[in-house]
Amino acid sequence: MRTKELLDSNWRFYNADLSPKTTTERWAGSKGGAFDFGATKIDFDDTKWKTVNLPHDFTLEGNYKRVNEDFSYKNEIPAMEAIDSRLVLAGSLEGSVGWYRKKINVAKEDKGKRFYIYFDGVYRDSTVYLNHFFVGNHQSGFTGFYYDVTDFINYGKESLLAVRVDATGHELWAYEGGGIYRHVWLVKVDPLHIKPLGGVFVTSTFEKSISSGKANAKIEIHTAIDNKYDAKVNFRLVTKIIDSTGNNVSEIESFGEVDGWDDTAIHQEISIEDAKLWSIDQPNLYKVISIIIQEDKEVDRYETTFGIRNMNFDSDKGFFLNGEAIKIKGVCCHQNHAGVGIAITDRINEFRLQKLKEMGCNAYRCSHNPPTPEVLDICDRLGILVMDENRILSSSKENIEQLESLILRDRNHPSVFIWAIGNEEGSLQQTEEGGRIARTLRSITRKLDPTRPVTAAIVFWDGVNKFEDVTTVFPTTKELDVMGFNYHEHLWERYHQAMPDQPTIGTETYSSMWTRGCYETDEDKCEVFGYDAKFKRLNEGEKQWKFTAENPWVSGTFIWTGFDYRGEPAPFTWPAIGSQFGVMDTCGFPKDNYYYFKAWWSSEDVLHLCPHWNWPDKVGKPIDVYCYSNCDEIEIFVNGKSKGKKVMEKNWYLIWSGVEYEPGELLAIGTKKGKTVCEYKAITTGAAYKIELSADREIIKADGVDVSIITVKVVDEKGRVIPTADNLIKFNIEGNGKLLGVGNGNPMSHESDLMNVRRVFKGLCQLIVQADNNPGEIIITASSEQLLSVKLVVKII
Ligand code: GAL
Repeated sequence: MRTKELLDSNWRFYNADLSPKTTTERWAGSKGGAFDFGATKIDFDDTKWKTVNLPHDFTLEGNYKRVNEDFSYKNEIPAMEAIDSRLVLAGSLEGSVGWYRKKINVAKEDKGKRFYIYFDGVYRDSTVYLNHFFVGNHQSGFTGFYYDVTDFINYGKESLLAVRVDATGHELWAYEGGGIYRHVWLVKVDPLHIKPLGGVFVTSTFEKSISSGKANAKIEIHTAIDNKYDAKVNFRLVTKIIDSTGNNVSEIESFGEVDGWDDTAIHQEISIEDAKLWSIDQPNLYKVISIIIQEDKEVDRYETTFGIRNMNFDSDKGFFLNGEAIKIKGVCCHQNHAGVGIAITDRINEFRLQKLKEMGCNAYRCSHNPPTPEVLDICDRLGILVMDENRILSSSKENIEQLESLILRDRNHPSVFIWAIGNEEGSLQQTEEGGRIARTLRSITRKLDPTRPVTAAIVFWDGVNKFEDVTTVFPTTKELDVMGFNYHEHLWERYHQAMPDQPTIGTETYSSMWTRGCYETDEDKCEVFGYDAKFKRLNEGEKQWKFTAENPWVSGTFIWTGFDYRGEPAPFTWPAIGSQFGVMDTCGFPKDNYYYFKAWWSSEDVLHLCPHWNWPDKVGKPIDVYCYSNCDEIEIFVNGKSKGKKVMEKNWYLIWSGVEYEPGELLAIGTKKGKTVCEYKAITTGAAYKIELSADREIIKADGVDVSIITVKVVDEKGRVIPTADNLIKFNIEGNGKLLGVGNGNPMSHESDLMNVRRVFKGLCQLIVQADNNPGEIIITASSEQLLSVKLVVKII
């Protein structure tokens, strides 16, 4: 029977290069079993190496620096200056080479089974060895890969899995991290088994009965089976469908045969009456259980989660899910979080996606690379649509393999609604070659998944020239099922007129440049105020969304970005190390414009004002007050005196210019149809008095993986966050857990994310603690000079 063992814990890690540095470092490397030396030698002494658990990002261990150490080449080749800016773009943490080793045990009795090792993602250029065998090299830092390691295992003894990771290269232009940063699995199967990648493909269609309104669905299941026995075998394939409560809703059986060392595929169809559809509000899921039976013995069982939904894009009316017009309210995201870099645990991913869902976001673009598989599982569960993206618009062998592996892995997820085959290929997209490449990738995509459209994120710019005449449609865009626009909204309508039958979507739109909690730009601190005319592409976000909302032919938008990320520190450069584009910072603390989107994207009543009300230097001076709300009318008051009532325009925001500042209370009252529905207060705080800790979850699992994400606030005596506080907080962590990381969203902070100290930034920072395997508690004490310290207990069960 199939088993799937998680290999995430207890890796030994060394942060430098060792032999074998390449697969042919030693002459004997030209022999099949030649790597019993250096870090791949099974009895090599790694006791002094660190013990780490996955996911792991070793780049975070480095120090921020302005330039590469070896800088001599710059004098000789001035053009190499670009390497320096590359480092700034990458967050000023330099990638390096690291080695991982892990002992695994496979029982003697398992000889004869097949074993696959799956790596969900290693950044990047990884070389895997098992015992003294070279197993494989994988370049991409974003695609998952697997190896059949059956022949290399020491059955009944320890086996040594060693992985060299070379994170010195780049695939993007932001921080990319380094290490085994996604899960690793050891899968054991019978020689007769479901194919290791893309083995089950489930598609569905449904019809709604006019009389009952019930959806009757037809499910098609394509099962690909490998036979690694020498002889031909006969088998039965039993396919069951179970609903989210575990009830068997349907079942079908088929018979097949397959030659030795060959494969076969079986196509089955099942009907489900009164199917529960997958949607954004009700993300109902089903499972296909595929069972292979050989001579009355179950030899393989494999589960595939899927959802029943249909969708279509209309070039005039936009996007439809289950027949209902849905405006796509999306964000682009890089994989990156405070404290952990790219090593985002499943719970941290869930935390991030929940925050987006709370904002009213209904779509996520994995820009610009294949995501961690768990992101898709979570989006399936939460009801978030996903634009699943391939890294490079290229039809080279390697890039085609990357695209194929993405589609084969992800095509059962109901959340995935579109494939993106490239992003801003500025020098390629307007050429004939670009058109041919896009056509090849689209054809491959359609072959592997005929159910979803293909887009690419197109920019009307080649890095030097802007293309204003978009009526000359690019060869690449002609090949797309859905046109994807990056920025340049003023050209979309003209393009649409030139290509009236092609649906459209904003693949990347609106970058805010706003440091969380900053209301006056301070270039020395690399802090920017979102409404500073010098930096903001003024009102772009608001204009962009209004335009999207008001034009049905635009299916939706993906703003850049949901969260800040390391690297791309625009509008600044070093010493800034992080981007400021997010509607949330790297910790997931909302910036003010988060409430603009929440007002127009969610169904909640929203009322939010900025700035804060702590301006000792501005007494008697004018301050502009900004308001995000979906109320009909909003009136603001300073210390009880009205500063005027204003009517909110749909999809817009309000400003009260030049409100005379006096300390005290800034109050807003929002009404809908004349009835008060919301109130918002900003109060001038007292002095910093104490620290407050609050956990996203105070009870977590004793599984060595689960995390509690703790918000750290510096507050006054009455518990009000000091919006300007920057106190240094020290954390002491005791009990059944450990510190995973810290962060504060400050795009210029060079503090380590791995230490137990952090400055709050504008009143807030974040601490992430991880449970060990023993039930009990984690006791967190936070202290700081001149502040009352505080204790928080997280239960581990
Ligand atoms: C876009 C690009 C993104 C990011 C962004 C920053 O052009 O697609 O990856 O670099 O600019 O503004």
